[in-house]
Amino acid sequence: MLTCDTLIRHARVADGTGGPPEVLDVALRGGHIEAVGTSLRFEAARLIEAEGLELSPGFIDVHTHDDTSVIDSPLMLPKLSQGVTTVIVGNCGISVSPVRLKGAPPDPMNLLGSAEAFRYPSFGAYVEALEAARPSVNVGALTGHTSLRYNHMDRLDRGATDGEIEAMRTELRDALSCGALGLSSGLAYLSAHSGTAEELHALAEPLTAAGAIYATHMRTEGDAILDAMQEAFSVGRAADSPVIISHLKCAGIANWGRSNEVLEALELARRTQPVGCDCYPYAASSTTLDLRQVDERVEISITWSAPHPEAAGQSLAVIARGWELSQLEAARRLQPAGAIYHSMAEEDMRRILAHPATMIGSDGLPHDPRPHPRLWGTFPRVLGRYCREQKVLSLAEAIHKMTHLPATRFGLAKRGLVREGYYADLVLLDAERIADKATYEDPTRASEGIERVWVNGVLAYTSKGATGARAGQFVGRSKRSWTD
Ligand code: ZN
Ligand code: CU
Repeated sequence: MLTCDTLIRHARVADGTGGPPEVLDVALRGGHIEAVGTSLRFEAARLIEAEGLELSPGFIDVHTHDDTSVIDSPLMLPKLSQGVTTVIVGNCGISVSPVRLKGAPPDPMNLLGSAEAFRYPSFGAYVEALEAARPSVNVGALTGHTSLRYNHMDRLDRGATDGEIEAMRTELRDALSCGALGLSSGLAYLSAHSGTAEELHALAEPLTAAGAIYATHMRTEGDAILDAMQEAFSVGRAADSPVIISHLKCAGIANWGRSNEVLEALELARRTQPVGCDCYPYAASSTTLDLRQVDERVEISITWSAPHPEAAGQSLAVIARGWELSQLEAARRLQPAGAIYHSMAEEDMRRILAHPATMIGSDGLPHDPRPHPRLWGTFPRVLGRYCREQKVLSLAEAIHKMTHLPATRFGLAKRGLVREGYYADLVLLDAERIADKATYEDPTRASEGIERVWVNGVLAYTSKGATGARAGQFVGRSKRSWTD
């Protein structure tokens, strides 16, 4: 009889394609999926009876800031406990590598950790550290525009010169040759806001030959969002490179209800160039405390503050009242700080979530003492709250957005499907019970309904917690396979 390491029997397999789940057996061997079929006959070292449970490819968190966590907290419990088996780091223009720090990390690079966390002068050094740390999840990495600016410019509040762009481009080319998946930008932040579209067009040039992608936290997600989208698409056209709009949303009360026109603009672009987006399933955003986003009508809570650590978890309105200041003045006094902004309409978020171009990205901030609950809850929340309870999308569609869709867009070879020969990144879950448990009040609670998680064939998590096994790999870019 044929042998395998693990045989999972009678699972309802949602294979990542988006098609209806089928009851099948899946055999794992040596890190890969050995066979998929009905009544597989294998002698297995471990047998899992999975009747009544769904088996999915491991989830790919396409938007993370886990750059330093995967090395410093390699168990990666916030992600593993959601069924995430691969994280993409280096989003929003801020990658921890390549960075050669000259003091305290500037905003928003400080979201990735304090100065000691920045120890990777080259992308290659980061990959080496990652391989030595062996996290529990796979890691793919983007190179950040802001990080490149930081390395080659004396100040960040101006556009780059031709010489500086050339130096950044050389460094980007080096990262791509070591397996970086593409370039990310964070143009809304003051550290990159002075970077013009021309700067990005010139910088993005090496993406073409590498078949790499451009992911962008756009210049604005507010009133001028359509212009910002056009700018993002123009960079993609200049580099002949696919564009991913990060955490697509309509931010600010004045823009509530605009998701229709935003998605129309996205669809129009999709007719002529590869464009997609990601989102997280919450109507509140989170980042550093940005004075431009302080609006007394919007509930803002503080996630951390360097001068006032006691403010973490408190409402800015309450703090301001206590200090007898306006919210803007109080925010100024709290800086540097982080915040959660309840600045979106639930309806817009749901519409963006359901759109076929949308992938799922948590955008979790692992260093916040009081993080946004998306860090621990994103994937089960989509499957529980938005699939089972609200029927915004089907389970198979949601799983497709979490697996095969990102694998093809980021060029992650042999991941994202339950298929023979693919890496055995798998999640066994209970679709009737799956639910996020992290809340704004209690944000670091593990979800329910994730029964088992395998990473490269190794059992990394069960409903009792992490097994301690760490079998994650660095995932470089393979030839792009964007299909629409
Ligand atoms: Zn961002
Ligand atoms: Cu982000």
